[in-house]
Amino acid sequence: MDRSQGRVTRLAPESAGDGQTVSGHRGLMLEEKLIFEQDEPGRCGVDLPEPAAFASRLGGLERKQAIGLPGLSEPQVVRHYTRLSQHNYGIDSGLFPLGSCTMKHNPRLNERMARLPGFGDIHPLQPPSTVQGALELIHTLAHWLKRLTGMPAVALSPAAGAHGELAGIMTIRAALEARGDARRKILVPESAHGTNPASAAACGYAVESIPANARGRVDLAALEAKLDHDVAAIMITNPNTCGLFEPEMIEIAAAIHAAGAFLYCDGANFNAIVGRVRPADLGIDVMHINLHKTFSTPHGGGGPGSGPIVLSAALAPYAPLPKVIEEGGRFRLVEQRAGEAAESVGRLKAFHGQMGMFVRALSYMMSHGADGLRQVASDAVLNANYLLASLKDALSPAFDGPCMHEALFDDGFLKDTGVSTLDFAKALIDEGFHPMTMYFPLVVHGALLIEPTETESRQSLDQFITVVRALAQRAQAGDAAHFHAAPRLTPRRRLDETAAARKPVLRWRAPAPLKAAE
Ligand SMILES: Cc1ncc(COP(=O)(O)O)c(C=O)c1O
Repeated sequence: MDRSQGRVTRLAPESAGDGQTVSGHRGLMLEEKLIFEQDEPGRCGVDLPEPAAFASRLGGLERKQAIGLPGLSEPQVVRHYTRLSQHNYGIDSGLFPLGSCTMKHNPRLNERMARLPGFGDIHPLQPPSTVQGALELIHTLAHWLKRLTGMPAVALSPAAGAHGELAGIMTIRAALEARGDARRKILVPESAHGTNPASAAACGYAVESIPANARGRVDLAALEAKLDHDVAAIMITNPNTCGLFEPEMIEIAAAIHAAGAFLYCDGANFNAIVGRVRPADLGIDVMHINLHKTFSTPHGGGGPGSGPIVLSAALAPYAPLPKVIEEGGRFRLVEQRAGEAAESVGRLKAFHGQMGMFVRALSYMMSHGADGLRQVASDAVLNANYLLASLKDALSPAFDGPCMHEALFDDGFLKDTGVSTLDFAKALIDEGFHPMTMYFPLVVHGALLIEPTETESRQSLDQFITVVRALAQRAQAGDAAHFHAAPRLTPRRRLDETAAARKPVLRWRAPAPLKAAE
């Protein structure tokens, strides 16, 4: 079996170029071996006493061999993980232009709040009487999410945007079943985030796609043509994944409601309109909000995220549990599908949701205030339009006109250069930037989706713009070789991404010992 994929290899001579060194390190970019390859059998970082004698009750099932942990000293372990962290690129390292992901600064104040012992050290099974402050925080966050969206109900427990989608579609299904109107289809625009059709299908619905019009918006006529009494809902993202506002939401809502269906809004991009548009005014029935995108909680590595849903009065009875109720200044939890919550779809997650994210999100809201949140949306849109305007003659914008919080380009500017969107993104890494989102949304050929976020300064945007413009000129000048060789300055060169995805090597095994004859 080929075990080289993803394994540490020494830098190939051509990868080091002029920077070839004896050590394999390049400046402060250190060549790092796997921790197992640093193994010194017998070396140990701790000096523990022998365990006291004990009588085993495992009936002879005890492990017979050592578990094969590498032998390392404490400084080796500390250096290994420190060096690995230095190979990482995150929002704390520099501009992170991933579109559709909103990689914005996580204010340290939020982190401080989340670590307060009264929030960080409590246990979800403590009796409510001992965690009144935490319940009040959940209740206050729920209040502000309702105020900001104009919706009458909220459920906080979904653990990510996609989880919120699932929760929202479950409430729609429950409402339809309650009126004896089982429907089978959900309409999803073709530009939608992949989680939308996946959530609809996970709830047992057939998904039908609605085409975008030439302006990158939902085609209302195509939508109306698909509407019949088998349609349970439409899932529509606003601003959509092309970074554009859907101006016909009210007409879409009217058409959907006239057909007896519900309007699900993917509110992952709420950061572009928070404080400026109230989703309730657009006729939305249920919407998830990615706290990690709009309210700056950390985003990455798959979590922990938080994707609360806000609901209309029609869907509120079906909202997932638990919920916090205030009565005379005290807070209680409703956790069972009974009495006042008899129609709820029930629990979708253990305990109350991602408490640490609730603290961070509320801290973000309160430190910004209503005017500050409005400013967040304005600045996010301003920064994206600054980028769009500065790059529109060098790259090829996917659609005419201004954008919302992210700027979308197609690969027209790379036509006949021999350079692909992927090559272009790899060259950006050599320049010290994380690439933008590539090849998404699928409705745009070779898409490059850039979301600078409101937390970037004019200087950092200008630096990025200068680099992107220079790379575009280099590609158009015929230097395809530069792009095909990229990245050249990273610890690893370009991987075989298909093999890495399809045949990942996730477990280290000691190389077989060499045979005597070899
Ligand atoms: C438009 C849109 N919808 C849904 C999601 C899913 O959110 P999550 O990654 O939290 O599941 C995202 C993620 O960024 C998104 O951009």
